[in-house]
Amino acid sequence: MLIKSSPAIKESSVTDESVYLNRRQFMQGSLAAASLLAVPFSPFANAIEGDALKFVKTSYGKNDVPAPFEVITGYNNFYEFGTDKTDPKKYQGQLKTNPWNIRVTGMAEKTGSFHLEDILNQNPLEERIYRLRCVEAWSMVIPWVGFPLEKLLAQFKPQASAKYVAFETLEDAKQFPGQRSAFSSIPWPYQEGLRMDEAMNELSFMAVGLYGKSLYTQNGAPIRLVVPWKYGFKSIKSIVGIHFTDKQPATTWNRIAPSEYGFYANVNPQVDHPRWSQSSERRLPSGLFDVKRIKTEMFNGYAEQVAHLYQGMDLRRNY
Ligand code: MTE
Repeated sequence: MLIKSSPAIKESSVTDESVYLNRRQFMQGSLAAASLLAVPFSPFANAIEGDALKFVKTSYGKNDVPAPFEVITGYNNFYEFGTDKTDPKKYQGQLKTNPWNIRVTGMAEKTGSFHLEDILNQNPLEERIYRLRCVEAWSMVIPWVGFPLEKLLAQFKPQASAKYVAFETLEDAKQFPGQRSAFSSIPWPYQEGLRMDEAMNELSFMAVGLYGKSLYTQNGAPIRLVVPWKYGFKSIKSIVGIHFTDKQPATTWNRIAPSEYGFYANVNPQVDHPRWSQSSERRLPSGLFDVKRIKTEMFNGYAEQVAHLYQGMDLRRNY
């Protein structure tokens, strides 16, 4: 990854903890009410970023403390907007996220172009608190709202011959300043992929919101992938394409630097990046004089759910 020294987030620039905890208590109250209304409905129709969503709470991540909203929405990797951590928030207004279509192609019975709303109407929303570990060795805890990827993919009836699923972000230089930048060396559009069994794992998630609100563009509005046991670059944002295939798909960072970023990209403290250690991470928010350095866990702490997917595989070779 084009690594740059990341600007430290000052504690003063993030929400005061008591404000944040109050907001969380308030949200938990409203969530309890929301769970009583847990019927499939149109949670997303005409949602614009920051709209309140209806969803049910789950126990995923109940012991993790989410990073403040301002950190999650202000310190981002979304190279379509620029390479600086603050670029996505600065330029997010240039992307129109509604209406939004997703094109489904390849080895599936139901292919074609689908309105996002039609997809979402079939999927009741839930909240899952997941840890996001970036390959750059920082991490944060994020309370996502969305639904299991497995449910989305099942809608398209993938054929048994489909062994992988590939995802693509919108390519539109008019809307993404990073794509029209003369300095960009990234082959657009941003692409990612998973093996089919990874995609169908219970943890793989499609997020349409966080902190109870529909996604802000800098976090991948209107819909993005979240794969919490893999480095963050697998969690592709603002998805417009889904492709079922029997061949391992090309993925953006692997194309740019294959010796540094593998297709699997499972969080693994025993396999260092060629240019830095992956044995620990800086948990955000973390200030210049208050660095929260914690040990990185195998599969980002989700081994129980996913280790079986890689049995018999050499994870040093399949990094
Ligand atoms: N998706 C697209 N389309 N473009 C990107 O640059 N960056 C990835 C991932 N998804 C990226 C992307 C990286 S490197 C990380 S760490 C996460 O998004 C960051 O997600 P966040 O900004 O919501 O924390």
